[in-house]
Amino acid sequence: MERVFVVDNSILQNSLTKIRDKDLKPSLVRKHLSIIGKVLLIEALKNEDIKLKRIETWFTMDNFPVINEDDYVIVPILRAGLPMMEGCLEVLEDAKVGFLAIKRNEETLESKVFYERLPELENKTVIITDPMVATGGSLIKAIEIIKSKNPKKIISLNVIASKEGLERVSKFKDVFFYIGAVDPILNDKGYIVPGIGDAGDRCFNTL
Ligand code: PRP
Ligand code: URA
Repeated sequence: MERVFVVDNSILQNSLTKIRDKDLKPSLVRKHLSIIGKVLLIEALKNEDIKLKRIETWFTMDNFPVINEDDYVIVPILRAGLPMMEGCLEVLEDAKVGFLAIKRNEETLESKVFYERLPELENKTVIITDPMVATGGSLIKAIEIIKSKNPKKIISLNVIASKEGLERVSKFKDVFFYIGAVDPILNDKGYIVPGIGDAGDRCFNTL
């Protein structure tokens, strides 16, 4: 079964190109990361199980399909995963949200988990949001924590992955990856090229 999807979507690519422009201001970086998060989520959940809900329409009383939004937990990786979380919540407004703060050391490129605040994940579908998969170290840490809580399914939404990073994270054979683009170079400082630079700093105006 295919588990790694590079999502071919013009709206996504349009937003990603805007973010790639180094002069895009932080409020618009957040806005377009949110749009990409939403597009990736829509692609990832397009064939989810539905149940029927009885509702009163303007003219009738009938059953209509709904997703059980309560079964979904969105987990943004702080900081840069936050705008994508916002986009996901616009689609799945009743999903739960858990948080992982993971920071990589800029010299060693080792990632460290600083904060974990997760709701019950057992039997839930967990949606991780983090725009960048560079070495893959941060996402691997996140997946290991989430896997240990026995979720039903893990979906990772990422805007850009390096080839190396994607290869490393796809060792998890039970995780589904939805990615906006795979960029060719991981430079010697651990940045993706062409990429978008430091996603967290660009979102939150801390350059
Ligand atoms: C960035 C990004 C990822 C990580 C990717 O976060 O948002 O979480 O780097 O790099 P990796 O694949 O090599 O681990 P960063 O650690 O810069 O934290 P921030 O979001 O707070 O800026
Ligand atoms: N983290 C980022 O924010 N950007 C990169 O290019 C690599 C890691």
